[in-house]
Amino acid sequence: MCGIFAYAGNRSDASQLILHGLKLLEYRGYDSWGVAVIPRGKGEGKRGKNEIVVKKRIGKIGDANVNELPSSSFGFGHTRWATHGGVTNVNAHPHLDCFNTIAVIHNGIVENYEQLKKNLIKNGHKFQSETDSEIIAHLIEEYSKNIPFPKAVQKTFNSLEGLNAIIAINTKEEQFCAVKNGSPLVIGFGKNENFLASDAAALLPYTKQVYFLEDNQMAIVNKDKADVFDVATNRSVLIKPITLEWDIKQSHKGNYPYFMLKEIHEQPDIILEIANSRLNEAMKMAEVIKKSHGAYLVGCGSAAYVANSGVYLFSKVAKRHVNFAVASEFSYHLDFLNDKSLVIALSQSGETMDTLEAVKRAKVKGAKIGAIVNVLGSTLYRIADYKLLIGAGPEKGVASTKALIGKLSHLILIAYSLAGKGNQGKEVLIKAAASSKKLLQSTNINNIKKLAKLLKTKSHMFVIGRGLSYPTSLETALKIKEISYIHAEGLAAGELKHGPLALIEKGTPCIVFAPQDETHGANLAGAMEMKARGGYIIGISNKSHEVFDYYIQVNDALEGTIIPNIIVGQLLGYYLSVEKDLDPDKPRNLAKSVTVK
Ligand code: AGP
Repeated sequence: MCGIFAYAGNRSDASQLILHGLKLLEYRGYDSWGVAVIPRGKGEGKRGKNEIVVKKRIGKIGDANVNELPSSSFGFGHTRWATHGGVTNVNAHPHLDCFNTIAVIHNGIVENYEQLKKNLIKNGHKFQSETDSEIIAHLIEEYSKNIPFPKAVQKTFNSLEGLNAIIAINTKEEQFCAVKNGSPLVIGFGKNENFLASDAAALLPYTKQVYFLEDNQMAIVNKDKADVFDVATNRSVLIKPITLEWDIKQSHKGNYPYFMLKEIHEQPDIILEIANSRLNEAMKMAEVIKKSHGAYLVGCGSAAYVANSGVYLFSKVAKRHVNFAVASEFSYHLDFLNDKSLVIALSQSGETMDTLEAVKRAKVKGAKIGAIVNVLGSTLYRIADYKLLIGAGPEKGVASTKALIGKLSHLILIAYSLAGKGNQGKEVLIKAAASSKKLLQSTNINNIKKLAKLLKTKSHMFVIGRGLSYPTSLETALKIKEISYIHAEGLAAGELKHGPLALIEKGTPCIVFAPQDETHGANLAGAMEMKARGGYIIGISNKSHEVFDYYIQVNDALEGTIIPNIIVGQLLGYYLSVEKDLDPDKPRNLAKSVTVK
């Protein structure tokens, strides 16, 4: 969702630095942006003394600049993903109070803003925007008439309902008052300079020493120090910074046209890294599952499909029943959980609101929480009892690829560890990495590019599979939908004849995953059913078959075949998007991390 970047230090080009920080957060998806600074020497703002100077625009940052903003060493910026109020310059953040001496940036939704706004208007406050966020600036203005600014921010935060992260500044002192519940906020510690951001990846060019604010903690940050306290108890919190393990190179596209393609090509090495270095971690998580009485894998979107594949993996490999639930639905049927239950949440960002909500409700039931997550220090990472870091590095494409494959690789290792065959799991991953590497060679890439050219004008397509190829089909359909905007339906192949077959007509593209496993024959039967109705059959298998009208070769890797198969779906979605002149990194309407319900 929205991006936040704030700077306090000795540089005089704070506005440029803030704009650069916002660009590092662009991958999260947004529709407008804004930067606010306090001019050096305390506010020679364009409208006189002691004012905050702001530039706000709709659309992407692109080649925009903030040259007209005065030199400053203190300020912040925000990229907005519209919730309340349309996409306009005025609705963009930061929002100001009536006198332009207070500015606020905000992530989240103020559920009680109408009542708060009514009271403020009664007290004479004038509003510029249609947003819920602007009321925060005016509320702080109202409270700070009688109490110190930080206390006014704290009192404002405590009067907001909903999950929010806010940073407020005023012209009296160059310090940020930052407070959150739900949406993430990270403090970055530099040399005579400090930062705040909504995502640790934006801090990498400046520092690797960070502190992830916990829910209901407030930080007062200036260029020299940060103090943190609990907003409910006022008790101060000892800050223990952690060191980010990511490398700055991972945050850049390099020679790739898009982050998504770079991240797809990073996958074979990530799988090998997991195979060779994560067996101990996998064994620990396997032990936790073994001791639990009822384990549930939950996630959203692609993470849900990985969770779904876990049901097949644990059954096939470890003869262990593990349940699966879409996280946004789990809250409606988790009443049976108890203190022997285990809920393992899968998430790239560790900030997906639906997943966090399900986990928090499960905790209330006494369940232990496991997390397979990519972002160190993220909310999910911090609230989990058992943590497993995916280690895929920062993932910038909105469509999840390497983090998804990283989750899947860990699940395979955990399933084999649970069966007491951890080293076999390692071998399966090594096979899967080799099969993926082969798939990424130019001949196979060109074969998929050619298929994308064939399919780019289609409006509908179907993707089918059985067993592990069923979640593979769901994930492939999602990749096609979310970045090429072509409707694709993922199906359990056996379900075709129970209805969807009615949709197959001459030329309907039907993608069939047919690995050489126990589902092979039945999957081919499904392909024949579709072919008999005119379907155009795209076969993905280790060897071709006469029923295939188009064939993509994928070497088998036992249960690991799901990995190269999913990579076929990633590549097809990517090249369809590029064929249609779309931006595969930033698909319309979507955000990298969905931190609202
Ligand atoms: C994946 O391509 C999508 N962008 C989306 O489904 C994503 O997987 C989902 O929002 C969950 O995100 P998370 O892994 O960060 O929790």
